Amino acid sequence: MDQHGILEMRPMRYETDRPAAENPIKIQDLSFRDGHQSLFATRGRTEDMVAVAELMDQVGFYSMEVWGGATFDTMHRYLGEDPWERIRTLKQYIKKTPFSMLLRGQNLVGYQNYADDVVRSFVQRACANGIDIFRVFDALNDFRNFQTAVPIIKQNARHFQGTICYSLMEQRMGGEIYNIDYYVNKAKELEAMGADTICIKDMAGLVAPYDAYNLVRTLKSAVRVPIHLHTHFTSGMGDLALLKAIEAGVDIIDTCIGPYAYRTSHSAVEPLVITLLGTNRDTGFDIRLLNRISKEMEKAIPKYLEFADNTKFSIIDTDVIIHQTPGGMLSNLVNQLRQMDALDKLDDVFAEIPKVRKELGQIPLVTPTSQIVGIQAVNNALFDTRDGEYARITEQVKDLCYGLYGKTTLPIDPEVQKKALIGYPRGETPITCRPGDVIEPAMQKIHDELQGLAKELDDELIVAIYPITGKKFLRIKYGIEPMPDEMKPKTLEEVKNALKKDKSMSEKNKETPPKPDGIRQFDVFVDGEYFLVEVSEKGAAPRVVTPNVSKPVIQPAAIPAGQAPKPAAEPVVKAPVSTEGGTPITSPMPGMFVRYEKKPGDKVEVGETVLVLEAMKMYNNIPSPVTGTVSQTPLKAGDPVGKGEILAIVQPE
Ligand code: CO
Repeated sequence: MDQHGILEMRPMRYETDRPAAENPIKIQDLSFRDGHQSLFATRGRTEDMVAVAELMDQVGFYSMEVWGGATFDTMHRYLGEDPWERIRTLKQYIKKTPFSMLLRGQNLVGYQNYADDVVRSFVQRACANGIDIFRVFDALNDFRNFQTAVPIIKQNARHFQGTICYSLMEQRMGGEIYNIDYYVNKAKELEAMGADTICIKDMAGLVAPYDAYNLVRTLKSAVRVPIHLHTHFTSGMGDLALLKAIEAGVDIIDTCIGPYAYRTSHSAVEPLVITLLGTNRDTGFDIRLLNRISKEMEKAIPKYLEFADNTKFSIIDTDVIIHQTPGGMLSNLVNQLRQMDALDKLDDVFAEIPKVRKELGQIPLVTPTSQIVGIQAVNNALFDTRDGEYARITEQVKDLCYGLYGKTTLPIDPEVQKKALIGYPRGETPITCRPGDVIEPAMQKIHDELQGLAKELDDELIVAIYPITGKKFLRIKYGIEPMPDEMKPKTLEEVKNALKKDKSMSEKNKETPPKPDGIRQFDVFVDGEYFLVEVSEKGAAPRVVTPNVSKPVIQPAAIPAGQAPKPAAEPVVKAPVSTEGGTPITSPMPGMFVRYEKKPGDKVEVGETVLVLEAMKMYNNIPSPVTGTVSQTPLKAGDPVGKGEILAIVQPE
C-alpha cells in the first residue's frame, strides 16, 4: 500500500462487513446538468428529474449539480420551462443534498460578459432560489471575471468553488504554457480570493491518469482548500483519471448515474462504488439504491434519444486528444458544416482550429471560447481567399480582440487584432482593465423595456441574458403567445408511436431505383424530423423553382454548449421576397436573425455589414456583396432563417 493509501484487498461482505472509510471520497452527481447536457443536448426536463429526485437525495452525494451551464438557455428556448422554477421544484424533493450550479463567471449562463448589475442580480436570485454551491469559472482563466459574482456568493453565505479550466497544447500536461506551475499559480490565486474549494475543470476529458495524479498531489501540498476534479469520459480516460486522482488524495469527484454516464459525459458512479468498497476511500453508497435509481432513470431515456449522437458505435473519441477540443465543439462544427453543405471542408476546419487558437492567444477551449474559435475557424475555412485572411470576423472575436472577455493566455496576434477592431464601436484600441469595468449597467433599461411583460426580477434576468429568445419565452409563459408544439413535453407513448411510424415508413421504401442526373434536393420536415429528400421527375428536365418562397427553415442553429443534435424542425412559412432587380443578400448558413445594422434607404459599401445573424451561438456580421442602397429588410428579431434565404435586398449603384 502506498503512502496515500488504498487499503489492501480482503474478502468482504457488502452489507455486514463494510468498515467506515477513514477518508471517504466525496461525490457530486451531475446527472441533472452536465450529464444530459453532454449526452442529450441539455434537453432533460424537470418532470423526469422529479421522478428520481427523492431517491437521489438518499444516496449521500456531497452535492448535486442541477443548474447552470447550458440548462438556462435550453429550458427557456426549447423546453418552454422557466429555468428558475426548476431549482424551486427540485428543492421540494431534494431536501438534504446541497445544490450546485455551473456559473460562467461574468458570462453567467450566457456567452458574453454581462454588466456588473446583471451579475449581482443574477447571483443574488440564484442564491434566493436555492443554489448552495457556485462552481465559478472563466473561459480565459482570468479571475478578474469573478470579482463581481464572488462577493454576492459570500454575502449569502454560499460556497464559492473557484475553478480552473484544464487546457493542453499537446497530448499531455507540460510545455511552456499549461504546465503544472500554471495550475498551481491559478489555484493559489483562487485560494487568496476566498475559494472554499478548488475545481480542476477538464471539460474535454483530456486529463491523462498520471497527469491527474501529479496535478492533485501537487495541488494538495500547494493549497489548503479541498480539491475537486471534474473530467469527462470523452477520450476514454475518465475512470482511470478519477482513480489515479483518488489515489493522489483528491477530495471530491464528479460522476453520473449509469444512464447519464460515459460517451461525452462522465464516469458512472456505480463501478467506482464497487472499486472503492472496503478501502479507506469507500464512498459508503448503497449500490442497490443506485441500481434502483438507474432503472428508474432508464424509463425516461427513450424521450431523449433523438438528441443523442448515434452516428458511431464507439463510445470513445480520440479526436479530442488529437485536437485538444471539447467533444461538443467537434460535433457542433460537424453539424454546422453539414447544414451549410460544406462537410467536405472539415479537414480545413481542423487545420484552422490550432491556427485560430494560437492567433487569439492560445486560450483554453471551453464555452464560450470553444464556440468563438470554432465558428471563426469555420468562417476562415469557408470564406477566406488567397488575398485575405479573417474575411469574416464574428462579433465575439472582435469582442475578444478588444479585451471584452478578459486577458488571453498569450497576447493576441497584433495583425488579427488590428483587423478585427477596424470600426469596432467601442474603439480601435483594446482595453486591459477588467471587462466588467467598461460594460454599461443594464438592469434599469431592461426593467423599463419589459413593463407589462415581466412580472418579477427573475423574468427580467432571462431577458438580460437572452434578449430575443427570453422575450419570446415570457410571452409564452404569460399566455400572450401559445406554446409551440415542439416545446411541449412528449409522453413515452408519443415517443414510441413516432418510432413505430418511422419504422413502418422505412420498411415501405425498400426498392431503390438508380439515381438519375438532374436531381433536386429538398429539406423536408415531418413531425420535427429532418429529411434531405432528392426528387427527380420521371422523364422530365429539372424544373427551376422560385427560391426562398414558403421554404421550411431549420430552427436556429442555437446548439447548446456540449452537443449538436440533428437539426430540429420548425417549418416557418414566410411571405415571398421580391428582389425587384436588386441584389439579394442570402444567408450563408442556417441560423437566427438578430438585427439589421442598416435600414431601407441607407447607403452601403461593398463588404460593409448589413445585418447580424446568430449561428452556433455566435453573432455573424453579414456583409453587402455590392455598393448601393438597402431597399428591403424583411426579417424581424428571432426569425429562424435557412441557408440561402434572402436576408435583405440592396439596389446596386
Ligand atoms: Co463538464
